[in-house]
Amino acid sequence: MKNLIKACLDLVEPQFRLDINHGWHGVGHWARVWRNGLELCEVMELPQQVPCAFAFLHDSQRFDEGMDPLHGHRACEWLDRLYREGRLGPLNLDLRDYKLLARAIGGHSHGGTEEHPIVQICWDSDRLDLGRVGIMPAAQYLCTPHAKKDSTIMAAYKRSIGVKQCV
Ligand SMILES: [Fe+2]
Repeated sequence: MKNLIKACLDLVEPQFRLDINHGWHGVGHWARVWRNGLELCEVMELPQQVPCAFAFLHDSQRFDEGMDPLHGHRACEWLDRLYREGRLGPLNLDLRDYKLLARAIGGHSHGGTEEHPIVQICWDSDRLDLGRVGIMPAAQYLCTPHAKKDSTIMAAYKRSIGVKQCV
């Protein structure tokens, strides 16, 4: 996944409008989203490419650190433009994966829970990192059985607020 992460950051970094290193929606958050997504992919035995790309692209078109309700929609449009310009080659996603990624990014801030399992993993991986903004993730807003577990929520919450853990 190292090449995929680099390919995503190469696209995001030059045009990112916020503080990529210290912001609530910067690389620290994206790395934890990917950590959460990887765990869900492993538990559900599903491929990792789309959740990995989601982690590093979903906040790419934020205008601010607040709700910014249209940032997912804008990121989806941006992705579509890159796709049409042939600039997504380094991501190495096939058309099916690209469509799943676009759905995951476009809908990630709408609060939905019913979707393709890969999209559900993307949404859960982001929502599990809400502790950094003072919100405890709630099972009712999560999609997958593993993410809904108290142990998963608590471990992700601790990571999101910077508590060191043994596991
Ligand atoms: Fe996010």
